[in-house]
Amino acid sequence: MIHTAIMGYGTVGSGVAKVIENNAGEIRKKLGEVLNVKKVLVRRFRDCPYRSRMTNDFRDIESDPEIQVVVETIGGVGAAYEYTKRALLAGKHVVTANKQLVAEKGCELLELARERRVHYLFEASVGGGIPILHPLTECMSANHIEEIYGILNGTSNYILTRMVRNGASFDGALAEAQRHGYAEADPTADVDGLDAGRKICILADLAFGHQVNPAAVPMEGIRGITLRDVRIARRGGYRIKLLGRAVRLPNGHTAYVAPHLIPETLPVANVEDVFNAIIVRGNATGEVMFYGRGAGELPTASACVADVMECLTSQQWTVQWSPDTTGFRDPAELATRHYFRIDGSLNDALRAFGEVEALREDNETSFLTECVSGAEAAERAKGLNVLACIRALS
Ligand code: HSE
Repeated sequence: MIHTAIMGYGTVGSGVAKVIENNAGEIRKKLGEVLNVKKVLVRRFRDCPYRSRMTNDFRDIESDPEIQVVVETIGGVGAAYEYTKRALLAGKHVVTANKQLVAEKGCELLELARERRVHYLFEASVGGGIPILHPLTECMSANHIEEIYGILNGTSNYILTRMVRNGASFDGALAEAQRHGYAEADPTADVDGLDAGRKICILADLAFGHQVNPAAVPMEGIRGITLRDVRIARRGGYRIKLLGRAVRLPNGHTAYVAPHLIPETLPVANVEDVFNAIIVRGNATGEVMFYGRGAGELPTASACVADVMECLTSQQWTVQWSPDTTGFRDPAELATRHYFRIDGSLNDALRAFGEVEALREDNETSFLTECVSGAEAAERAKGLNVLACIRALS
């Protein structure tokens, strides 16, 4: 029998226990032994089938030599950071879905794991149940990664879909996402772009080999998207989605999160509900798209349990990146098309930007610019009365 412990018993933690129990036969066949949850670390005890295994003292896990793998689902960087370090120092593998901890401290924790010759694995931290970090670092490892972009927050995508398709209110759609267990404990992290931001940082760390600090990455969420802009975009053949992007530039790399207009002919424009889609562009593969459920109890838990199984079967320590943050550039340097809605005429738009694609003109004017950097778009728009400005994927 192989013993594990789960730290935190919220949506993901209880999901991990369920996947281990429900798929016990499958897991046993692959590991050759039974996988057992020996301890569950909680703040408050509660009635559930794991009641007798619950503890509120981390030392019960740290000092138990039988526990080989610890699954951290506490979240945040407080206790989760301390217990992860202590578990690694005690020679235990650690698996997590905690994107904040990986984005902020992953480099240091990987180094510690390497020193102790144990694993620190975090497939579930990006894209929930979608395999993305393993394909990126293993299957695509012969590529020079040029860009990664995608819909990285299931809750925001769910809210946008509900608002656009069913005319739901923002608050109503958010409450539904919370009921389904998609949202973070603090859902502002979902709707204000932080959750997608942490995920794009992890993807950028792995793709570019340098630490990308979340604090340096501009993160904008879905609160500023109006149904008016959604409708104008749709009539022009575009959809508005919240994207995280990590792009290699001639002189470094950049990353950010912001709403984007996407041509409706691209598959990512049609990704709806809680689904995520992550597109990786390698110099040999071209674009590869990963699609699936980006949030929720069992999809995320299944990625954690697969990592637990990998800890027990693999001796390879391949994933790492440099703590050096040089090479990170302000995304304002990145050139894309930009959507504007202005209180003004098409002539005003043409005077500011030269050629534009007009989307609508009545008492307001909506248009798409040619490809210009964020900084240049802001400069040229200075004389206009801007009501909305959204980047486009181009
Ligand atoms: N709250 C996250 C989301 C969960 O909605 O995508 C997965 O990280």
